[in-house]
Amino acid sequence: MAVNEQEVEQIVKQILGQLSGSGAGAAVSPAAGKSQAGAGIPSTAHVAMLTELEKFEVKEFPMPQVGDDDILVKVEGCGVCGTDAHEFKRDPFSLIPVALGHEGTGEIVKMGKNVKKDSAGKDLHIGDKVVTCMIFKDDPEITMYDLNKQNVGAADVYGLLPDDDVHLNGWFSDYILIRGGSTVFNVSDLDLDSRILIEPCAVLVHAVERAKTTGILRFNSRVVVQGCGPIGLICIAVLRTLGIENITAVDGNDMRLDFAKRLGASHTVSFKEFQGIEALTGAVKASFDGHLADFAFQCTGNPAAHANIYKFIRNGGGLCELGFFVNGGDATINPHFDLCSKEITLVGSWVYTLRDYATTFDFLKRAKGIGLPLSDLITHRYPLEQINEALKTNLAMTGLKIAIVNK
Ligand SMILES: NC(=O)c1ccc[n+]([C@@H]2O[C@H](COP(=O)([O-])OP(=O)(O)OC[C@H]3O[C@@H](n4cnc5c(N)ncnc54)[C@H](O)[C@@H]3O)[C@@H](O)[C@H]2O)c1
Ligand SMILES: [Zn+2]
Repeated sequence: MAVNEQEVEQIVKQILGQLSGSGAGAAVSPAAGKSQAGAGIPSTAHVAMLTELEKFEVKEFPMPQVGDDDILVKVEGCGVCGTDAHEFKRDPFSLIPVALGHEGTGEIVKMGKNVKKDSAGKDLHIGDKVVTCMIFKDDPEITMYDLNKQNVGAADVYGLLPDDDVHLNGWFSDYILIRGGSTVFNVSDLDLDSRILIEPCAVLVHAVERAKTTGILRFNSRVVVQGCGPIGLICIAVLRTLGIENITAVDGNDMRLDFAKRLGASHTVSFKEFQGIEALTGAVKASFDGHLADFAFQCTGNPAAHANIYKFIRNGGGLCELGFFVNGGDATINPHFDLCSKEITLVGSWVYTLRDYATTFDFLKRAKGIGLPLSDLITHRYPLEQINEALKTNLAMTGLKIAIVNK
């Protein structure tokens, strides 16, 4: 039987992994920098800990033991999320000191003897590229085999865990320890940029699934996407991969509106060019040849934008509101004019489910297949040592997606 180079590499990695993975995990060598059990794993790991507001320190910790159900991952990269920026500025979850970073991916370098398959039933080997979803601490039995479980409540996520004796709890690091009972997915068939974008893309796959429950979204629907930050831009790309082509993007930032076109928007409207909601509605209508939208996605965290968006939707149309991951305050609408008399079907959307994760892997391949430049969403890449600059760039909103990429 012919064995190709890749297979040989896999077998060698597997044997090396088994050697280093014997017993309950290799002992921690006291000599920093030396290899652990000969598998190229150093004896220490580096973790960017948020130790006080607006200050990360890259700390060195002993490489932890890898238990029978655990996976040690060498981190390749991790996106910076709005939630990280909130933690950096204000620590709303009172987690400091905390190892942040939940949009990460990397390569398995060591696995416990009980680890055989990922959460979708796919085989796992040393060398495979993985991501995690949420950790279901209250119900570790939840897997892809039970697809109807929702991800809301009782779920934790690496990168937003309290610090503990292991410390390797976030993806802003060079190694992370994935504990038994966590969700993990083998995504070796996706490139690094795609893997870094999985988590935010899953938010939009979920939002579009929520939108589809209204029965209003169809191939030929006229769709408004309001807000062209990473969330709105990915929304456009997801709609585009579904075959929806009549998409008007609304924002006030020309650079972002240009990018919306590259990701599949057919028209763009800058709210800065129109005074008042009537003029803005007129511009949206003009973009659809005189029609209002069949469906709209609200992708800003601005309550006034929530109130506006009803005006862009036709009678009997639909709205998916996903812009408020955190409390942005109250929005004032007129329930008679905006909702009842128009018979709008409204759905809210919040993060994603495990099922959405699997769909997201396919979405990323499909987006690449039809030439959508999703990788260009990552406008800034910083090494781990420059994590403070990365967070500041995120807060300055000069780019789109900021990522930490390890050498
Ligand atoms: N539902 C979820 O699970 C979920 C997950 C992640 C993020 N979010 C939320 O989605 C929102 C968008 O995220 P993002 O990362 O793209 O944010 P972002 O701040 O980068 O982008 C928001 C965009 O909205 C535009 N905007 C602001 N006011 C507007 C208005 N009145 N009309 C049109 N455009 C307007 C801004 O110019 C900006 O480009 C955030 O509020 C975030 O909290 C929700
Ligand atoms: Zn996030």
